[in-house]
Amino acid sequence: MDHKSDSLPRQGPSWLRGRPRRRSKTVRFLALGCLCFIAFAQWKQLSPSSVLPSSAEITVHGLSVKQLHDDLATCSKLKSKASDPIGLGRERNARYVKGHAPTLIKNANVWVGEPTKGTPPEAARRGVGFNWVVADVYMEHGLIKRVEASISLSSVAENTIVFDAGGRPLTAGIIDMHTHAGVESLPGLWGTSDGNEMSSDITPYLRAIDGLQPNDPQIQVIKSGGVTTSLMLPGSANNMGGEAYVIKHAVGERDGRNETSAADMLADPDRNWRFMKMACGENPKRLYGKPGEHGPTSRLGESWEFRHAFEQASALVRRQDDWCHMAAVSGIHSMKSYLPQEIRWEPLVALLRDQVRLNTHCYTIPDLEAFVDHTNEFKFKVRAFHHAHQTYLVPEILKRAYGGEAPASALFADNMWYKAEAYWGSEYAGKVLYDNGLTPIYVSDNPVLNAQHVLFEAAKGYKYGLPYHAALAAVTTAPAERLGFGQRLGKIKPGFDADIVVWDSDPLSVGATPVQVWIDGTAQFDNPVKLKKPAPKTMSPDESLSETTKEKPVVMDEVVFTGVSKAILREASENLAPQANNMTVVVSTGKVVCIGDCKTELQAAVRSNTPIINLKNGYFTESLTAFGSTIGLNAIDAERDTDNGPNPDSFTRAEDGLLVDNKKLRVAHSYGVTKAISAPKYSDAGGYHGTSVGFLTNVKTALDKDAIFAGDAAVHYTLDVSATGADGPNTPSSMSAAIGTLRRKLLTAASTLNDTTGEAYSEPLFLRKVVNGSLPLVINVHNADTIAALLKVKSAVDDVTGSKIRLVILGGAESYLLADELASANVGVVLAPLQSYAKSWDQRRALTGAPLTNGTCVDRLLDAGVLTAIGLEEDWLVRDLGLLAGIVFANGEGRVDERGALEMVGGNLYKMLGLEEPGVDKGHFVIWEGSPLEINGRVKAVGGGIGNTVSVF
Ligand SMILES: *[C@@H]1O[C@H](CO)[C@@H](O)[C@H](O)[C@H]1NC(C)=O
Ligand SMILES: *[C@@H]1O[C@H](CO)[C@@H](O)[C@H](O)[C@H]1NC(C)=O
Ligand SMILES: *[C@@H]1O[C@H](CO)[C@@H](O)[C@H](O)[C@H]1NC(C)=O
Ligand SMILES: *[C@@H]1O[C@H](CO)[C@@H](O)[C@H](O)[C@H]1NC(C)=O
Ligand SMILES: *[C@@H]1O[C@H](CO)[C@@H](O)[C@H](O)[C@H]1NC(C)=O
Repeated sequence: MDHKSDSLPRQGPSWLRGRPRRRSKTVRFLALGCLCFIAFAQWKQLSPSSVLPSSAEITVHGLSVKQLHDDLATCSKLKSKASDPIGLGRERNARYVKGHAPTLIKNANVWVGEPTKGTPPEAARRGVGFNWVVADVYMEHGLIKRVEASISLSSVAENTIVFDAGGRPLTAGIIDMHTHAGVESLPGLWGTSDGNEMSSDITPYLRAIDGLQPNDPQIQVIKSGGVTTSLMLPGSANNMGGEAYVIKHAVGERDGRNETSAADMLADPDRNWRFMKMACGENPKRLYGKPGEHGPTSRLGESWEFRHAFEQASALVRRQDDWCHMAAVSGIHSMKSYLPQEIRWEPLVALLRDQVRLNTHCYTIPDLEAFVDHTNEFKFKVRAFHHAHQTYLVPEILKRAYGGEAPASALFADNMWYKAEAYWGSEYAGKVLYDNGLTPIYVSDNPVLNAQHVLFEAAKGYKYGLPYHAALAAVTTAPAERLGFGQRLGKIKPGFDADIVVWDSDPLSVGATPVQVWIDGTAQFDNPVKLKKPAPKTMSPDESLSETTKEKPVVMDEVVFTGVSKAILREASENLAPQANNMTVVVSTGKVVCIGDCKTELQAAVRSNTPIINLKNGYFTESLTAFGSTIGLNAIDAERDTDNGPNPDSFTRAEDGLLVDNKKLRVAHSYGVTKAISAPKYSDAGGYHGTSVGFLTNVKTALDKDAIFAGDAAVHYTLDVSATGADGPNTPSSMSAAIGTLRRKLLTAASTLNDTTGEAYSEPLFLRKVVNGSLPLVINVHNADTIAALLKVKSAVDDVTGSKIRLVILGGAESYLLADELASANVGVVLAPLQSYAKSWDQRRALTGAPLTNGTCVDRLLDAGVLTAIGLEEDWLVRDLGLLAGIVFANGEGRVDERGALEMVGGNLYKMLGLEEPGVDKGHFVIWEGSPLEINGRVKAVGGGIGNTVSVF
């Protein structure tokens, strides 16, 4: 296409600008050469035989006949409708690399991805006909060729590689329909961040593939979670962000490919469909609007930007169609111009011609409604709304979208609250959408979530009521269909691409991990690390989960629970002594008065008409604690008005900024998190600075009785990447400065230990308590080198005082590298996140676990005897504390038992901080149906609160 329309200001070469220079001899010589060349060219042009086109090559209108012919050929391309590429009927996968032997997977428990033949559609939607079936799978030439019970070796090619699945679950490779892997390589660095081109808000002409780094290590990490295919999108800064690409996670020779290139990663080398990203809402208006100059500064402006762009593209479609029609009817010789083409609008033209599958980031009702309007005004389809937090509120709006098929909703399971448009999210969105005939899909937005664990989003979708088969579909068949790969990806059937995962446990169970992954029939891990786990069993879908519609609890003071099969308690006091399999828990004035047989109490309860709740597989535990988040200091992360704010320069007390009685805290309490310890933010980039406050999550005001259980729980400083990134007048600019400053402060405190003067809440006074060991020092730090420096600071100060600083590391991605040193220095580690990955440079040595690494950070720390706990990297994780502990339990190969796992979100924190935990005796307990560590465990009652009551769900 030669009709570029580029709005960039045209600048001459640099030597034309600025002040004139004396011409050098070289320049004069070159100029002479040019003149000679021009003269020669002129002379050549005068010779008609050699340069001028013959009249046969040029029309009467002076246009090139060849170009016109090419244009006419382009017309038929413009008219061609894209369709989903076939699956069955292929001899071989176009991605197949010659020389790879066939593979037979024996003895697998196969999830086909569709119901058994003949299941009526309505029944299938409910899950009827979806089963795990014992079968062998034979793959050859990059395709699944046979899925049958007992395929005999004699019936397959001689060189076939045999893999014994040992009865483990086998699914199609996971598809993540929203990743930035490759364009936002990890660890995140400025130099490798290419997801957003910020020169303009409307950039449909950008192509994410132009920034795709095949060697982004995260592409391999993601695959280790069973993800074989991803939709790699540009970022969401721009209203129109550009073209996206469906890639497979096999890169270069090591992964069985011929070459290392982005082109080689394309899931469909024939490029039947193209893909595009757009975005509504907060990002574009925050980033682009310049009042008085140009928009958008509001959603109103954004809609105009969209419509204006579509108007240009529609006009071009019209001009092209007119040209093509004329050229076809009257012949190219009558054409007075070439086919109108503009690279700038070409991808949008392709969208309007239904050759592009569009994915649009839209959170809110107005965003969705406006965008659906655009689809009808300009007649194009949107295949999925991403970050579609409010779609569950407006199914009817989605159903009005152009094209007759409601867009799918690409969601996180429970990540929300991070900005105003994410404030109204619901963990039940997947279920509600599905119940309304719509399609939920779970995505990672890697690196926002580590896509290695995108399947866990689906598992949580199931936990929150989405039927089991629909949850699995949400990361397999549903994205495959929305991407136009419905006949190739997402199912285990002959004719489909041989992208397969064998799991060590049910894929929707907590901690499910691949044992091996195949892409186009080639095994991806040479020596995969396997976790020691009990013989795999697949779950029978728990249908009662979909009855959950927990929003508001019933508040009771007297209530009895029966059917409690397990009480997991730190110290069982006399009247709280768990005995049998079927225990009773009696609650009176909000306190547990009996656990166990409780015959007398039960009879009394029956007599007095006290509510009795019968549980199936009930669990009784201590309540959980949220440590290391900003809950209690903030309602919407990105909205300053709702936030206590950052403190890079001042040392403050969290208690002074406490904000209670808000959504985050209500959710925390409803998930059994009755206590939180939060510190003031250091900067908007992250970290903490000041003293944290320990408080109860369901208080109405900070003056409620017992609202604060630790006014100053710990002193916090930050030594992660945000320590050198924040800009305040007193902020150290280097890590060495930050460490030096901390050492100076601590040594000053050590030398003034006996000084009792000064303001009671001042930093020096808190630090005196730190150096004499009575107040813990919590440092945000990931990097092992920084941790080493910190240990030296501690010992230097301890040497002076003779006491021991109670040091706690928060973050700790690389702490395993110093596990023994941390254990011997008695330093506790609060992992945040629990499952670290190389998100930033200081976490680059994070262990991501099987099948790539032998264990993760928590395993190494536990092996060394380091006191370890789980923190919240972000506030939304407050729902997931039980499940995170469950991951340690399920994947810890026996390192912790159930109680040990739960201690990581409770008791261990208090041990590290030297604080007394408000316990069961104070009314802090949780009653669950199912194990809190398992995917189908759910909270039935939470004690712990004000007013001697228990919240029953
Ligand atoms: C890969 O390389 C082999 C050997 O050079 C060649 O025969 C084959 O055609 C190549 N396959 C693809 C898909 O490029
Ligand atoms: C457990 O005990 C309660 C009260 O005695 C009884 O109602 C219930 O049926 C028992 N459940 C089981 C599973 O035995
Ligand atoms: C603090 O007082 C104690 C006891 O009076 C004394 O032993 C110690 O040396 C003093 N420390 C400092 C740093 O002055
Ligand atoms: C530590 O210092 C604080 C404040 O100076 C003091 O109140 C406390 O008793 C000291 N604790 C110990 C164990 O020395
Ligand atoms: C993994 O690490 C453990 C130590 O935690 C060691 O005993 C084991 O041999 C290692 N396994 C492999 C496969 O390297």
